[in-house]
Amino acid sequence: MARRSLVLGSGSYLPERIVGNDELAKKIDTSDEWIRSRSGIRQRHVAAKGELTSDLALAAARAALDHAGTTAAEVDLIVLATTTPDETFPATAVRVQYELGMKRGAAFDVQAVCSGFIYALSVADNMIKGGQAETILVIGADTMTRILDWQDRSTCVLFGDGAGALLIRATENESPDGRGILSTHLHSDGRYHDCLYVDGGPSSGENVGRLRMRGKEVFRHAVANLADVVMETMEANGLGIADLDWLVPHQANKRILDGTARKLKLPPEKIVVTVDDHANTSAASVPLALDQALRDGRIRPGHLVLMEAMGGGFTWGSALVRW
Ligand code: ACO
Repeated sequence: MARRSLVLGSGSYLPERIVGNDELAKKIDTSDEWIRSRSGIRQRHVAAKGELTSDLALAAARAALDHAGTTAAEVDLIVLATTTPDETFPATAVRVQYELGMKRGAAFDVQAVCSGFIYALSVADNMIKGGQAETILVIGADTMTRILDWQDRSTCVLFGDGAGALLIRATENESPDGRGILSTHLHSDGRYHDCLYVDGGPSSGENVGRLRMRGKEVFRHAVANLADVVMETMEANGLGIADLDWLVPHQANKRILDGTARKLKLPPEKIVVTVDDHANTSAASVPLALDQALRDGRIRPGHLVLMEAMGGGFTWGSALVRW
């Protein structure tokens, strides 16, 4: 029997402070009306001074362990997706490993910007399939508000901070009801590396840098690439769009969600939307949305759930799970 990854638990964390559009409009030349009509965003959570990506990740990881009814002693790998690590090195994942009291196993970061969680989940799933790990914490955590240019109104209104986590475990037997991660699909196209990037970093700049984006180009590619990867995933599993119970998309912009849904002819009531409350939390956005839909009872055992994301690079990908 082939090994497969089962999802055991889910958790998330949002910083306490909420910043509404009106509060932003007091500091920069924007309005609630512009932000809502262009992005669907109403508010975002912002990490407190001194609150680090690892703090957000740790809170989400603990919530996922609690949800699964287990402890960090069971975990033998942490894969953490982030674009905003605490420090240039070491990986934020090792800080989480330390804070969880794990003295064995391994921990590392994955960098694929807004697609980071999908990349991390794919890596983790393949580590399980290859027999290199049994129980894995997969975390997406970002403090995007730390790398925004607050003078650039076309980007600074779009992002927020947060974290989400899944605990997955190997099963030797394919369960009769077919539960678990069915497939993951990853893509990137480096030709578009300069459409969405940060203009600094250890090798190319003297400082951390700030986020830069060509919004229209990102928008256009997002709708096309996301619709393509959804179709690719369903076809790879011999399924159609109508078989899906839930689409849990990366929460970048309501117009991207609507455009993708229209292209796929997917009814809006099957799409989990949190962008209005969270804004774009980068690697955290998919697991945050997933956790919300699990906890409010929308996603139930047996449901077919498709996660997808697209981000800087460009990177994009998907993961299909029978819950
Ligand atoms: N408030 C008020 N006016 C603004 C703001 C703002 N916050 N930002 C820009 N404007 C103005 C511009 O200056 C411009 O004014 P002008 O016509 O006088 O020059 C006008 O609004 C229109 O600007 P556009 O850039 O043409 O606006 P557009 O309709 O393209 O919307 C947006 C911009 C929302 C960024 C859009 O391009 C978009 O959604 N792109 C996708 C980007 C995205 O979601 N990125 C997330 C990261 S990538 C990912 O996760 C997939």
